[in-house]
Amino acid sequence: MNRKGFLQSLLGASAFASIPYASYGKSGPSINELLDRISLPTSGNLFGFSAEPISKVKIGIIGLGNRGTTLIEMFQWLVEQDRAEIVALSDLEEKKVIRAKEKIGLWQKVIPKIYSGEATEWKNLAQQDNIDLIIIATPWEMHAPMAIYGMENNKHVATEVPIAYTLSECWKIIQTAERTRKHCIMLENCCYNEEELFVLNMIEHGVFGDLTHVEGAYLHDLRAHMLSSDYYQDQWRLKHHISRDGNFYTTHGLGPLSFYLNIGRGDNFEHLTSMSSRELNLSRTAKNNGSKYLDFKCGDMNNTLIKTSLGKSILLQFDVHTGRPYSRINKVVGTKAVHDGYPSRLFIDSEKPVFWGHNWLSESEYDKYREKYTHPIIQELKEKSQEFKQGHGGMDFIMIYRLITCLNLGLPLDINVYDGVMWSAITPLSELSVSEKSQSVSVPDFTGGKWQTSKDLGIMRKI
Ligand SMILES: NC(=O)c1ccc[n+]([C@@H]2O[C@H](COP(=O)([O-])OP(=O)(O)OC[C@H]3O[C@@H](n4cnc5c(N)ncnc54)[C@H](O)[C@@H]3O)[C@@H](O)[C@H]2O)c1
Repeated sequence: MNRKGFLQSLLGASAFASIPYASYGKSGPSINELLDRISLPTSGNLFGFSAEPISKVKIGIIGLGNRGTTLIEMFQWLVEQDRAEIVALSDLEEKKVIRAKEKIGLWQKVIPKIYSGEATEWKNLAQQDNIDLIIIATPWEMHAPMAIYGMENNKHVATEVPIAYTLSECWKIIQTAERTRKHCIMLENCCYNEEELFVLNMIEHGVFGDLTHVEGAYLHDLRAHMLSSDYYQDQWRLKHHISRDGNFYTTHGLGPLSFYLNIGRGDNFEHLTSMSSRELNLSRTAKNNGSKYLDFKCGDMNNTLIKTSLGKSILLQFDVHTGRPYSRINKVVGTKAVHDGYPSRLFIDSEKPVFWGHNWLSESEYDKYREKYTHPIIQELKEKSQEFKQGHGGMDFIMIYRLITCLNLGLPLDINVYDGVMWSAITPLSELSVSEKSQSVSVPDFTGGKWQTSKDLGIMRKI
């Protein structure tokens, strides 16, 4: 892809309106100028937004592959409580829709309407009158168009990660949500994991003092999944690695870190720089496994550094090519304490600096903190979420429980449209930086300046 094609794929054609064709090359406008050109006015008026209460939330699900199938299971308890009902299902492949319908039939009386066969059948689901909430679990590039169409058809929408794939989509998502006054939530389940909530609770209680630096990641060996001919539909995930280079999966690390740092609620991502290593491991494995796809642009390891407006730094890593244990790092550095994840460890600074003995807390000392600062929502839901272990150890259940509970009660959602967009926009921004020798790239303000006001996170206190 030439430079024009590459930039247009991330920024949209409007970035180049009225720029002569001849200036598409390196002598043309800088990345930051192009980013300015595509920014749209937003009001930030969806912070704290709540909709009318819905006593039984009627749900349509688009995409019934690996993720859509897991998400369905998270609804069983809520359906049995008469607080939710799955009324429509759509997937390109009919067999997946039938499989989902049979699964739901084990615990729900109402039979969902089904849509399959054509790539645009999901639009008929989005138009179905009795749906309150559309859940989207399709390949990445479909999330934003489906979410926008859903809101235009008067539905709340919840998309899998990331919420958008290009910067112009990020702007369109926010504008559509602000205009239609619909919820548009990104289903970032890692914000609901026990360890991340324990850390968040400690931060909110001042255990860390003032934060200076955090680190997060998506380090997950996905070679077997991506190279399998039938794990992802049409190997959609592998195809991103053929033509793109950057951090493609930012939100599992960045979602919880953003809550720690009050991003959008008193602080903001200001600029970033991104660097990828060379690519070796995916192509070697592909060759050894007789894959029909052999060449990949995405480096094995991407490092993205983000600076916030208040001067905190974030290191975000992405590697799905290397064989290694899974990690999201989950490091938090504050003036009074440090946390490292995988496995979770805590260091509490002494009142006075010491020459030696900078050790993690012993197991029994750590356990005391864990007991004291276990998040209230975990205390409340642990038992129930254990029944749904298959949802990533319980966090998927808590996420869906919170989403439906907030809709039932007419409360603001934990993750608003600005959060989803801010965390997702780091992907195309990282690609722009990587393509320009790690040039510093400004992160647009998607909140219409509203990030400057400190607001309660309000997330997940007992209700
Ligand atoms: N939050 C998490 O922990 C988590 C875990 C896994 C996947 N995901 C996300 O979920 C999404 C789906 O991933 P997956 O692993 O389920 O992939 P998948 O390939 O198993 O599922 C995608 C599904 O979308 C369907 N689809 C494609 N085009 C469609 C169309 N036009 N209309 C209707 N259906 C269509 C496919 O047939 C397929 O069944 C991705 O965005 C991924 O990032 C999130």
